[in-house]
Order: sequence, then structure tokens, then C-alpha cells
Amino acid sequence: MRPLSIVLLGGTGFVGSHLAGRLVRDGHRVRVLTRDPARHRELLVLPSLELVRFDVHDAAHLPDALRGADAVVNLVGILHEGGGARFRRVHAELPRTVALACRSAGVPRLLHVSSIGAEESAPSAYLRSKGLGERLLREDAGPVAWTVFRPSVIFGPGDQFVNRFARLLRLAPVLPIARAGARLAPVYVGDVVEALVGALASRTTERRVLELCGPDVYTLGGIVREVARSAGLRRLVIGLPGPLGWLQAAVLGLVPGKPMTLDNYRSLGVDSVCRENGFAIFGLVPASLASLAPTYLGAGRKSARLDAWRRATAGRDATT
Ligand SMILES: NC(=O)c1ccc[n+]([C@@H]2O[C@H](COP(=O)([O-])OP(=O)(O)OC[C@H]3O[C@@H](n4cnc5c(N)ncnc54)[C@H](OP(=O)(O)O)[C@@H]3O)[C@@H](O)[C@H]2O)c1
Repeated sequence: MRPLSIVLLGGTGFVGSHLAGRLVRDGHRVRVLTRDPARHRELLVLPSLELVRFDVHDAAHLPDALRGADAVVNLVGILHEGGGARFRRVHAELPRTVALACRSAGVPRLLHVSSIGAEESAPSAYLRSKGLGERLLREDAGPVAWTVFRPSVIFGPGDQFVNRFARLLRLAPVLPIARAGARLAPVYVGDVVEALVGALASRTTERRVLELCGPDVYTLGGIVREVARSAGLRRLVIGLPGPLGWLQAAVLGLVPGKPMTLDNYRSLGVDSVCRENGFAIFGLVPASLASLAPTYLGAGRKSARLDAWRRATAGRDATT
């Protein structure tokens, strides 16, 4: 693929920083729009990456920020509302704003990361807003070639999922969890990145919704037990019955950082599993949680990862 100019929205986050490293390593120019460049200076170790302070909700100026790009990737998302962030604005209005801005700026390609279970009729506000955002993006994209990705829960170095459970498991011998029977298919961040990169080079993915799942379906309780095993911990994981699980989510939603909310509890009421294999179009076989979690638990510092990408880039440049 020729070197592209790619703008990332939400490029400072978990998936975004993995994607940025990969794109830079492949020789692309990457511009990351962020609310606070100072908080994400570690990304600047990546050559050919530019961090730009920008409010992505500023519809009037977004086309200027995207002009000249070959592709835009929207990775902006929130797990719960707060601090002025609302699901409807972030997950539904923003994808439309980005699609319209791509049209206005003449950007031909738009990749959008949604979520498995995104439906306007879903039980949680998170999933409903993701579903609405997909529809608004599709309706307003016009000639922009979009691809929507719907991952199940994503794991990998720096994740908030496996690492959070690992931290909790280290604190106590017994961990009671809500919605222990919820079914999920954890997908590796490196595989999600491969799919995004693959879509940049593939016309067959245009105007398609691709579901991304790992190879194994677990219950939430099963994932937590897998995390305990991977971290070398002998722990008892107990599934809380419905009303107690609800109460736990309600209480945790009031704790700073909101480790869980009632809306998360409702999201877990629908299976986070794929109806079709979105990796097949790229010829990719996704990796399993059991094989990878032991390799990164406790070793997921973003700066260390970015240093590794920079070394890889330097190695490539030296040989070309
Ligand atoms: N991680 C998962 O397991 C998972 C599973 C399914 C779907 N997804 C979706 O995949 C995408 C990427 O997920 P992620 O885990 O990488 O997310 P993340 O680490 O939370 O990063 C999201 C980024 O969005 C930006 N952002 C957050 N709130 C914002 C707001 N109110 N206004 C503007 N920008 C805001 C932030 O960028 P700045 O702070 O730099 O502005 C942040 O770096 C999201 O759309 C998410 O919903 C993730």
C-alpha cells in the first residue's frame, strides 16, 4: 500500500494507540485529534505522528481538520456518561458529524468503530446510541466509502477489561460479579488493528458492517476465571444472583471512576457474540484470550509499547 495520510479520532485511547503504532510502522502519516495533547505526549515518540488539539464535536471546523486525509478512523467512545459526555452526542451525533465532515473535506474513506450488539432497540443506552450512530453515519456518508466495525470486548496490553479484573483479583480471595452468565467473545486488540489496517487496503469491505469476535465464547465468570489463571492467582469467582448483581452495579456506578454502571449491567443482558466472522474477509484467524492474556498481564504500559513500535520503525527505516 502506498503511504497514506490518516486522521484518527479517539487515537489516544486503547485501540487508537495500538492502531497509531501500527500505521506509523507501516509508513503512513498519522494525525491524531485529541482534547488534550499534553496528556498523550507519549504518542509523540512515534515518528510521522502529529498530535493536534481539537474538539471533534466542532462540526463547523472538523472538515478543515480532516482536509487532505486519505482516510479517517473514528474510535471515539465512552463506557458511561459523565463530565458532560452523553452517549447520544458521542456515539450517535459524532459519527454523523464525522461522515458529513469527510464529505465536505473530500475524504474518500471512513472507518468507524461501533460495538457488537449495537441496535437502536437494545436494552442499554450505550448500545442504543451505538446503533443510532451507525444508521446516521450510513445515511449521511454519501460518496464516502465507510466500513463499520463491531467488536466484542477487546483485550490486549493496556486494556481496561482484563487488567481491571486482574487488579480486583489481586485484592481479595473471593470476587463476586454481576451478570456472570453473560456471553462474550473477547477479541485481541492486535487482531482488531489488523482488520482496520486491512480495510484501508480493501475495496470489498466498503459499505459493510463487520463483526469482530475472538475464537472462544466465554461467560463473564469464565473470563474472570481465565484472567485469574493467567495471572497465576487461585481465586473464587462467584456469580451474583439478579437483584444482587443489579445492586452491585448501582453501587459501583456511584464510585469514582464508575467501575460498573446500571447501563453496563443492561448491556451485559445481551450476548456479546458474533453472528458472522468479520475477520474472514481479511483471511485472519483471531487469537485467543487464553493464549495471550498471560503474556501481557501487568506489563501493559502504553509508553513501553510505543517505544517498541518506535524501535521497530527505526529498524525498518534503517533497512530501507
Ligand atoms: N475497548 C473495548 O473493549 C471495546 C469494545 C467494543 C467497542 N469498543 C469501541 O471501540 C472504540 C475504541 O475503544 P477504546 O477502548 O480504545 O476507547 P478509549 O480507550 O476509551 O478511547 C476513546 C478515545 O475517545 C476520546 N473521547 C472519549 N470521550 C470523548 C468525548 N466526550 N469527546 C471527544 N472525545 C472523547 C478520547 O480521546 P482524547 O481524550 O484524546 O480526546 C479517548 O482516547 C470506541 O468507540 C469503543 O466504544 C471498544
